[in-house]
Amino acid sequence: MPEDTRHPLKLLILGGTGEAMELARALEDDARYDPVYSVAGRTSNPRLPDLRCRTGGFGGVPGLVEWIRAEGTHIIIDATHPFAARISANAAAAADQAGCKLLALRRPAWTPEPEDHWRSVPHMAAAAQALGDTPKRVLLTIGQLELAAFCQAPQHHYITRSVELPETRPPHCLCLTQRGPFQLEDELTLLREHHIDTLVTKNSGGEATQAKLQAARQCGVEVIMVERPLLPRANHETATPQAALALLHQFSAGR
Ligand SMILES: NC(=O)c1ccc[n+]([C@@H]2O[C@H](COP(=O)([O-])OP(=O)(O)OC[C@H]3O[C@@H](n4cnc5c(N)ncnc54)[C@H](OP(=O)(O)O)[C@@H]3O)[C@@H](O)[C@H]2O)c1
Repeated sequence: MPEDTRHPLKLLILGGTGEAMELARALEDDARYDPVYSVAGRTSNPRLPDLRCRTGGFGGVPGLVEWIRAEGTHIIIDATHPFAARISANAAAAADQAGCKLLALRRPAWTPEPEDHWRSVPHMAAAAQALGDTPKRVLLTIGQLELAAFCQAPQHHYITRSVELPETRPPHCLCLTQRGPFQLEDELTLLREHHIDTLVTKNSGGEATQAKLQAARQCGVEVIMVERPLLPRANHETATPQAALALLHQFSAGR
């Protein structure tokens, strides 16, 4: 590790994704940085790095600005999930107001292969509607918070997979609690055992949960793909933790 006598760069990592963890772990024991890793506190047993960590919302943009100013944060790293639109918008506004850098770590969206049967929809209500009237056997890999939309389509049989058990769920529903990454063989078994004909998923991107798309392709399962919300542009955007780390090193060296 290069010796550096300057004050370390103070970082706020907005986490909750595998990429955020990978970046955070790469910063452990690096004296050039003084990072804080932040999670929303949605899951009861979140994965956390060996860094200073905090849990829970900041209280909107004003709370985040106050927190950044109190800490003297130099760079906010928005490494949240691509569907976590509110915190990304807050991070952009707060960085602007507090005059600190914003680095967004955004994994690319998935795109269909020629053999895929995908239908893209803009939100969860549209996904429930796209299932149609004829009863289907549907795998929902959309997390536990947005299942209510499928209560409007009770004619289908659902299998849900999420990290925590959902509070609200549609009727005729079997809930599985599992945390990725998932392997292709397991995804094939899941689709076959439950005779799934339709998969509803968010276009999260990334490798940890993409095996289900490969399994759907192999089994001829239709995919209803909920596309990403619009996220604010950041001055600095990278697609991988490695690229984010390289950029941080540039910032650190250029001070
Ligand atoms: N949405 C998904 O599909 C999904 C999937 C996997 C993981 N996650 C992770 O779960 C977390 C919450 O997701 P969400 O969809 O509820 O986000 P969201 O709708 O964008 O955020 C809602 C509120 O939760 C708080 N929050 C969100 N992320 C935070 C963080 N990293 N640290 C501190 N506070 C945070 C903020 O509260 P205040 O306004 O009070 O600051 C924010 O306004 C994110 O960290 C995200 O990366 C989300």
